[in-house]
Amino acid sequence: MTQLPLFQHQVERPRLDPAQPYRERLAHLLAGDLDFHEADSTYATHALHAFPAKFPPQLPRLFIRELTKPDDVVFDPMVGSGTTLVEAVLAGRRAVGSDIDPLALRLCRVKVTPLPLDEVIRFGVAVCRQAERMVQEQPAQVEALVQQRFDDRTRAFVEYWFYPRTILELMALVTAIEAIEPEDVRAFLEVTFSGIIVTKSGGVSRARDLAHTRPHRVLDKPPRSAFEAFRQRLRKNVEALAALAHCAPRVELYEADAQALPLEDESVDLIVTSPPYASNAIDYMRAHKFSLVWFGYPLDTLTAVRKAYIGGESVANFHFEELPPLADEVVKRIGKKDEKKARVLHRYYSEMTRTLKEMYRVLKPAKAAIVVVGTSVMRGEDTLTHKCLAAIGEAIGFDVTGIGVRRLDRNRRMMPARHGKKETRIEHRMHEEYVLGLYKPGYIHTLVENRRLRDISDLPFDLIL
Ligand SMILES: C[S@@+](CC[C@H](N)C(=O)[O-])C[C@H]1O[C@@H](n2cnc3c(N)ncnc32)[C@H](O)[C@@H]1O
Repeated sequence: MTQLPLFQHQVERPRLDPAQPYRERLAHLLAGDLDFHEADSTYATHALHAFPAKFPPQLPRLFIRELTKPDDVVFDPMVGSGTTLVEAVLAGRRAVGSDIDPLALRLCRVKVTPLPLDEVIRFGVAVCRQAERMVQEQPAQVEALVQQRFDDRTRAFVEYWFYPRTILELMALVTAIEAIEPEDVRAFLEVTFSGIIVTKSGGVSRARDLAHTRPHRVLDKPPRSAFEAFRQRLRKNVEALAALAHCAPRVELYEADAQALPLEDESVDLIVTSPPYASNAIDYMRAHKFSLVWFGYPLDTLTAVRKAYIGGESVANFHFEELPPLADEVVKRIGKKDEKKARVLHRYYSEMTRTLKEMYRVLKPAKAAIVVVGTSVMRGEDTLTHKCLAAIGEAIGFDVTGIGVRRLDRNRRMMPARHGKKETRIEHRMHEEYVLGLYKPGYIHTLVENRRLRDISDLPFDLIL
């Protein structure tokens, strides 16, 4: 059994008995402590860049350690910042991921790519120097680059959210980064650049709360030097990258919709993922566009990507799926109060039906998908997302081995404001997340369930032997 590398402040739990049957181990993990409040979640490359609603790295780490072996394929169809993939790489597993968000994909790629640190530092320092020189010696040329870079709508956005001096500094930095030839180093510096914009306090932009995807423009925010911020971030990120020095990652990353995955049937040993919440509670693009516009994405393109997010609000020309009774009931209950909201929820459950079907297809039989979700409130009604996704999973053919509960750390999350003194039941649920253990039955189990097998003499020995 391989030992995973241990990082500072981390206490590894005792291993389960690997001789214990797979489903029992899965059930045991789901019933155990999944809070991880005391754990440090910033080790290795996990804190390279802010990203809202990440799960703690200890969560995928636990399931990867107990349910897979070296060389197994660990997959996350909605990689986000890449937490599952980083843990898969650290554990010596093959890591496969997909997402539709361009920033998530860049970030994830960088977080699993070891680089020669001296080379990164050399290029990083050269970028800073060159950018500073450009702004000092040729400000008019940098200004001309700004004019060329953005269309009218995108430029208006940039001018609204960044001070004129910061625009020049960022333009010079991004130009210097784009001239770097080694692709992996360039990608690392781009993510470092993005990290000085998308931060909790809004970094070098005039926004506050970007990391929570709720930007507010702060009128009196003092301008911050982008050069200084880049240097500081570079130092931190290079230190983080050192954790990958001994890894030999095997990673496949796809820009793909989780509802139509580019993977072969039965090619994955474990899925650990967390889909967006229902009702678009976290609007990733609202924050990510602050950095993506600098990489040449016009706002119109980003608006189109945003529409494809699971949990979006547009229902025009949308193909709805038939839902199992519980999900149907919840949608109807909300529909009595607000038809439009009910359609948005129906869209979410339809998208998740297609996503879970794809997850079922790509999983090997007798393996599991771990799906971490929170529930939402619509017009005062609980969407019961965990229970509805469990019902949808069951209708597809998964066996719901268990639903674990994690209490969210109030200090680390942004919680909705409380009205009144007592926490309501719904409020209580908002402070929890659910960890669904969806098991894809093996061939024999499926045949028995489908009543194609009556007794042992019917066993398809050709499939077993
Ligand atoms: C909650 S985040 C995942 C966070 C991740 N577990 C982490 O620790 O960083 C959900 C992700 O789903 C992605 N997503 C939304 N709609 C998608 C779709 N249709 N296909 C693939 N990914 C999608 C978002 O871009 C976002 O990165």
